[in-house]
Amino acid sequence: MDNVLTGGRGDPRHFEAQVPRQRPTATQTSGASTNQLRIDLPPIGAVGPHSASRISAVSLASAEWAGSVCHTEWTFHQLSPYIGKSKSSMAAALVREFTLPGHTVYEPFSGCGSIAFESWVAGCNVIANDLSPYANLLTRAKLFPYGSLELALDDLHRSAAAIKKEAKPDLRSVPKWVREFFHPDTLREILTWTAVLRRRRNWFLLACLMGILHHQRPGFLSFPSSHSVPYLRLRKFPREQFPEMYKYNQ
Ligand SMILES: C[S@@+](CC[C@H](N)C(=O)[O-])C[C@H]1O[C@@H](n2cnc3c(N)ncnc32)[C@H](O)[C@@H]1O
Repeated sequence: MDNVLTGGRGDPRHFEAQVPRQRPTATQTSGASTNQLRIDLPPIGAVGPHSASRISAVSLASAEWAGSVCHTEWTFHQLSPYIGKSKSSMAAALVREFTLPGHTVYEPFSGCGSIAFESWVAGCNVIANDLSPYANLLTRAKLFPYGSLELALDDLHRSAAAIKKEAKPDLRSVPKWVREFFHPDTLREILTWTAVLRRRRNWFLLACLMGILHHQRPGFLSFPSSHSVPYLRLRKFPREQFPEMYKYNQ
C-alpha cells in the first residue's frame, strides 16, 4: 500500500462529534520491507522530552490495567483480531503517562495499531510502521476512519455497485488450507470484495471485512472456527450435527 491518504477525524466511538481541530495530513512511505504511516498534527505547545526515569513513576499495577475493557474502550480496538496486541487501557495509560498533545509517537511495530490509535486520540503526531500487511491495514483503518457513518455507507454502496462488474475469482489459485475455511460461494464473495476494496483503497471497510472472517457465531463468514487464531472447529461442530454452520447464506 503505497498511497497517500488524508484522514477524517471524527469520534471513532460513535462516528459523530467531529473534533474541530485542523485535519491531519498523512503520508505513507513504503520501504523494501516495511509499511509506514505518518500523521502530522499541528503542534500544540513546545514540550520537552520526558526522561526515561519517569518509567518508575508509572503505576504498573494500576486498577485500570486489570479486568475487561470490552465495554469501555474505543470500539475501534475491536475492529479485527490481532495476536499480540496491547490491552487498550494499557496503551492509553502509557500514552497518557509519557506524552503530551503535540508530541510525536513513533510506533515501529504497530501491530493492529493500539498504541498508534491511542496516541492519535491523545492529540499526538503518529508515525506507525509494521512489516505485516495485515497489521498495516488495521493500523491504517484506525488512524484514518470515516468522518461519519454516512460517508462509510456511501463508500460501501459504491463498492457494492463495483462488485457487480467484477469477474468471478478462480478458487484454484487459493491454497487448499484457506479454501477449507469457507463455502466456495462465500470465498468467492470475500475475494471479490477484497479486490474491489483494495482497488478503491477503502482500507477501513477492508479492515471491517477482515474482522468478520472467522468465528463460530452467526454473522461471521467462515465455517466454525476460532476468532483470533483461526483454526477450524470441526470436532466441536461436526458437519452432520450442525449443517446450518456449513451452508452458504446469501
Ligand atoms: C507484539 S506485535 C505489536 C503490538 C503492538 N505494538 C501493540 O501495542 O498492540 C509485534 C509486531 O511487530 C511486527 N514486526 C516484527 N518484525 C518486524 C520488522 N522487522 N519490522 C516491522 N515490524 C515487525 C509484527 O508484524 C507484529 O505486528
